[in-house]
Amino acid sequence: MNMQPAEIKNGIFMFNGSISRNLMIEPMASHMYFLEEGDEVILFDPSCGKGIAKRVEAHIRRRKKGQVKWKKAFLIAGHSHMDHANNFFLSDVIGAPETHIYLHEEGFQGGEVKNKPAPFIENMFAESSKYFNPYLAFSFPYNVLMFFLAGLDALSPRMTRKLLGVVGSLSWPDPVNGSVEPEPLRQDDLQIMNLGGVTVRGWRVGHKILLPTPGHSTCSVSLFWPEQKALFVSDADWIGNPVFVSGSLKDCLHSLEMLKALCRAEQVDTLLPAHGLVKQGREEILSYLDFHIRRLEVMRNEVLAAYRLSGEDKDVRRLTRLLIQESPLFRMLKLVNYPRQVVFVHHVVAVCLREEGLLD
Ligand SMILES: [Fe+2]
Ligand SMILES: [Fe+2]
Repeated sequence: MNMQPAEIKNGIFMFNGSISRNLMIEPMASHMYFLEEGDEVILFDPSCGKGIAKRVEAHIRRRKKGQVKWKKAFLIAGHSHMDHANNFFLSDVIGAPETHIYLHEEGFQGGEVKNKPAPFIENMFAESSKYFNPYLAFSFPYNVLMFFLAGLDALSPRMTRKLLGVVGSLSWPDPVNGSVEPEPLRQDDLQIMNLGGVTVRGWRVGHKILLPTPGHSTCSVSLFWPEQKALFVSDADWIGNPVFVSGSLKDCLHSLEMLKALCRAEQVDTLLPAHGLVKQGREEILSYLDFHIRRLEVMRNEVLAAYRLSGEDKDVRRLTRLLIQESPLFRMLKLVNYPRQVVFVHHVVAVCLREEGLLD
């Protein structure tokens, strides 16, 4: 692994993350973006795990040896998921006199960031259980363990989720915090602004702007650096969206349309996702965002087509099985949304049905 970050453009460095081959065995790690402008530094999506944190620490120390003195530091999590909202201790390594760690207010629960692996998994299963039995949504070999949990769930749902949280979080590192407390970005503090003729709502962070881009999660934000025409979108473009039942296909579309409007208005020429390749140039970015918008629309239509074909069956598990059999798109999604963990495809189906008013 190359210790040095990639310099994308002046002042923007990318530390490469990794996409998990299997979440039960290895965690995801988002890319971490390191932005420097004068005496200000921003870490967007501080990622997770020691591997990437060590590379960033080495970079910070190299920059400090080069006589750089940062007065302000901002660590901003694009959302609260475990592969993004982590490594907050890096703010102490930077050691700027003024430091803030920001995350959308929806990413907190009881004053704590919702980034701890076991509660995250417990919560995900609690949410999924409202729409289908998630323990019966896995294929071989995980279904062997899951059948046992499905039985236990019938006796004690709470204890089953706790057990699953422990087992499912074994591969995930615990968050590493520093001395600075994360602060919530509040909806009430959003300001209306005009960016090249496009009206948006956002929060200002120095010369940069944070834009709410919900859909993947309710707490998703993107970072926009107007002078560099750079847009950091976290997981707003994740191919499996809407990947959790707390997500929203409608919000995903709305967020992508807003990002597309900024690009059409020639405000953006570099799009930097948390997973995957950096896109450059207006046409490349527009085509990429269009692909995701069409993908979401087609996905919703495929779910509705399966619903009609099934004689208006509202059973999420049966509909998912039908979609995976009949729809090449959903076959692909089953592979993309983590090998052998079909539960994420069930989420897509549940969200589509709910947003079409077919599920409560
Ligand atoms: Fe992610
Ligand atoms: Fe995520």
